[in-house]
Amino acid sequence: MTCWVISRRSTGRRRGTCSAVDTGAGAPHTRRQWRSPMDISIAEFKPVEADLGPACDIWNAAVAPQSELYLPMSPALMAERLAGRTGIPADICLLAEEAGRPVGLAIATTTSLTDRPAADLACMAVMPGARQQGIGETLLREVEQRCRAAGRETLKVDYSTTTRLAHGVDPTTPGHRWLLHRGFTVFRDQLFMRLEMQDWRLPESIVSLVDGLEASGVTLRPAGPEETPSLLQCAAEFGPWIENSLQSNAESATPAPVLVAIEDGTVRGFVGPLTISGCGVPDFDLIAVTASERGRGVGKALFYLCLEDFRQRGATLFELMTAPTNPAQKLYLDAGMRLICVLVCHEKRL
Ligand SMILES: CC(C)(COP(=O)(O)OP(=O)(O)OC[C@H]1O[C@@H](n2cnc3c(N)ncnc32)[C@H](O)[C@@H]1OP(=O)(O)O)[C@@H](O)C(=O)NCCC(=O)NCCS
Repeated sequence: MTCWVISRRSTGRRRGTCSAVDTGAGAPHTRRQWRSPMDISIAEFKPVEADLGPACDIWNAAVAPQSELYLPMSPALMAERLAGRTGIPADICLLAEEAGRPVGLAIATTTSLTDRPAADLACMAVMPGARQQGIGETLLREVEQRCRAAGRETLKVDYSTTTRLAHGVDPTTPGHRWLLHRGFTVFRDQLFMRLEMQDWRLPESIVSLVDGLEASGVTLRPAGPEETPSLLQCAAEFGPWIENSLQSNAESATPAPVLVAIEDGTVRGFVGPLTISGCGVPDFDLIAVTASERGRGVGKALFYLCLEDFRQRGATLFELMTAPTNPAQKLYLDAGMRLICVLVCHEKRL
């Protein structure tokens, strides 16, 4: 995730005070007028495509140019991301307006997937011409206040956010220092990789690898419903979160494919669920091979077959993150993925 742009409040300026204003029942936006030197107002917007033009304009002008990590965003893609990968939508969506012109954006989710008492800050951005006036700080205060009111104890800027609006912070951008100066600390980092798939093709060497595995009794294919118990047993080694994800995928009316490696009727490894979003963004939750079967090429074959599945379904860009200590990075880089940056994740006690 993100943006990390942000304005720094210029020294010597008085901070604005919030007074008030209810725009009335049924009004599309709730506004609070900030009596600040710049007379900034904060408007709440709905995370639906029709309302996302101004938010996209801010993202594309203030966030995307800063780092390869942050790609330009269409309202359709932003709507998809704000709806949340797991059905948990962004519930704090704020625009800062100066004389009616949108100049700042803050997006957060008060329900975290991985850490119940935490909220996720997905984006904080101020237009280049409006920085250094305290707008970012004003937005952050508002986000923090709403998160506290929702009972959250921590605010995180983390790649695991449900929105994946951005994936963390590129530490070479000003947003990293901005967050550190506002009480955030770094709690983990991640390798962020990208594969442009237009010219990607399954190498012949992988076809031979798959044939060799087949000859040694390992079959690679999409899992059928009858394999669900064995798949869940294999997944149990990697944590309840992936078991739950695979279970709910299996129970869904339209399950996404999960590629499995099967030997002696038992699932030894898997990658999935392999999803392609409405905007064409491919994703999977986990690639894993049971510990006793690693080092035989099963993980490699699964990963390439997953990329081939994405390519055949029309995906043009695939992104993933992995821990800097995870040896899986070799697999990804060998397959043609490019390291975009080592992104950092921040947190702050509220
Ligand atoms: C990542 C994982 C799926 C790889 O499965 P695998 O079947 O052991 O992988 P392969 O045998 O196909 O090896 C693929 C390549 O990675 C390399 N590799 C795999 N594990 C490695 C390790 N622990 N250390 C160094 N290199 C390793 C192999 O040498 C191989 O390179 P090569 O093609 O040059 O020979 C497996 O290690 C795993 O399940 N890890 C735990 C789950 C996990 O962390 N998943 C990734 C989340 S991002």
